Amino acid sequence: MSITQSLSTPLSSSSSTFLAPSTFNPSRSQVTLPVKSLGVCKCIAAPQEADTAYKTKVSRNGNIAKLQAGYLFPEIARRRNAHLLKYPDAKVISLGIGDTTEPIPDAITSAMSKRSHALSTVEGYSGYGAEQGEKPLRSAIASTFYRDLGIEDDDIFVSDGAKCDISRLQIVFGSKIKMAVQDPSYPAYVDSSVIMGQTGYYQKDVEKFANIEYMRCNPENGFFPDLSSISRPDIIFFCSPNNPTGAAATREQLTQLVKFAKDNGSIIIFDSAYAMYISGDNPRSIFEIPGAKEVALEVSSFSKYAGFTGVRLGWTVIPKQLLFSDGFPVAKDFNRIVCTCFNGASNISQAGGLACLSPDGLKAMQDVIGFYKENTNIIVETFDSLGFKVYGGKDAPYVWVHFPGRNSWDVFAEILEKTHVVTTPGSGFGPGGEGFVRVSAFGHRENVLEACRRFKELYK
Ligand SMILES: Cc1ncc(COP(=O)(O)O)c(C=O)c1O
Repeated sequence: MSITQSLSTPLSSSSSTFLAPSTFNPSRSQVTLPVKSLGVCKCIAAPQEADTAYKTKVSRNGNIAKLQAGYLFPEIARRRNAHLLKYPDAKVISLGIGDTTEPIPDAITSAMSKRSHALSTVEGYSGYGAEQGEKPLRSAIASTFYRDLGIEDDDIFVSDGAKCDISRLQIVFGSKIKMAVQDPSYPAYVDSSVIMGQTGYYQKDVEKFANIEYMRCNPENGFFPDLSSISRPDIIFFCSPNNPTGAAATREQLTQLVKFAKDNGSIIIFDSAYAMYISGDNPRSIFEIPGAKEVALEVSSFSKYAGFTGVRLGWTVIPKQLLFSDGFPVAKDFNRIVCTCFNGASNISQAGGLACLSPDGLKAMQDVIGFYKENTNIIVETFDSLGFKVYGGKDAPYVWVHFPGRNSWDVFAEILEKTHVVTTPGSGFGPGGEGFVRVSAFGHRENVLEACRRFKELYK
């Protein structure tokens, strides 16, 4: 499929419930932009309509059919591509999907390269590895991120990324559970729950799936849900620092969350994919909270620390103390799923992960994170200076900008149309994100500066 073919598919706003009709009024101040050829355009390989009338007799999985939308980020990529078709010379800047942009530090790629070359030798060749990950890496993860927290090497399962483990965990818990999720939140939690059959149908009036507890997190409640209003969930997805709001929960808040889980006999799936971005004293792991090992497991990732979004490496921690109602360890069932549905992370990625956790690697990761945090400050200052209420940014690479009373897809479209900058509409993360736009700090410095210059031009 050529790029032109893939881009020529007309965009239908009905292809996604995330896609509110675009009603923004383009009569706002006109911005003149320098246009420069982008050179490369990423093609998202979305399936095309078939050109044959033949149909198999296999019926479609009804749970997948419940999904109302294309997954949020491919949808944004489609809109970006449509924009490029309209403005082929525009220098489009993407501060949208949250993909990292800076090169992987050399200390880390050299270790991967060494491992890769070793595979060409008899002594260095290795095939299938332990499904749970290589021992030295499991041990390095435990001692780097969970020192003094009572997490042991064999509580760590190395993965090909946090998103993949989120879906594998859904398989572990099955279709009969009820889950709760922060609203707004990273879309993979809800979508994987729908696919597993845990939910009812999408309810258009409230923009929610039935049988999911949406825990509203907004500026009014300090981005921490009112737990007293939540009916008992089996599984609670909780992400801190949060994508998209950038809010990191405090020790007191996480203590409340652990107590809530214990009182209800629930399990917390704590997503700490951005923990290294935390600036102050807020917990970087749920296991910093006393008693959490009996009610929580944690997923995490090298993606946003070391630019491993393409390399693919993450981990999940499941303490031995975490048990099902019949006393069976959750870790044992997860291990069964890992052995059945996965065969372990790439040995080359694992060599990179081990290098990340060496003294040089840790310093290199801190430097890259520091760079993105400088970008975050630039974006925060820009929107601040324009009079917007801005959240996040301090403990996460995301800035959550409030556009009160406005439809977030309209704001997304307005910004794209007038500045050629791709952001993410808040409502794509759940109904609680309506009225907000997420601006990602993952970008080359010159692009972030240029995007901020254009924002100032548009909203001055
Ligand atoms: C909160 C959160 N969890 C998980 C992931 C996915 O991480 P990975 O690249 O390790 O699959 C992301 C990626 O954006 C994320 O924002």
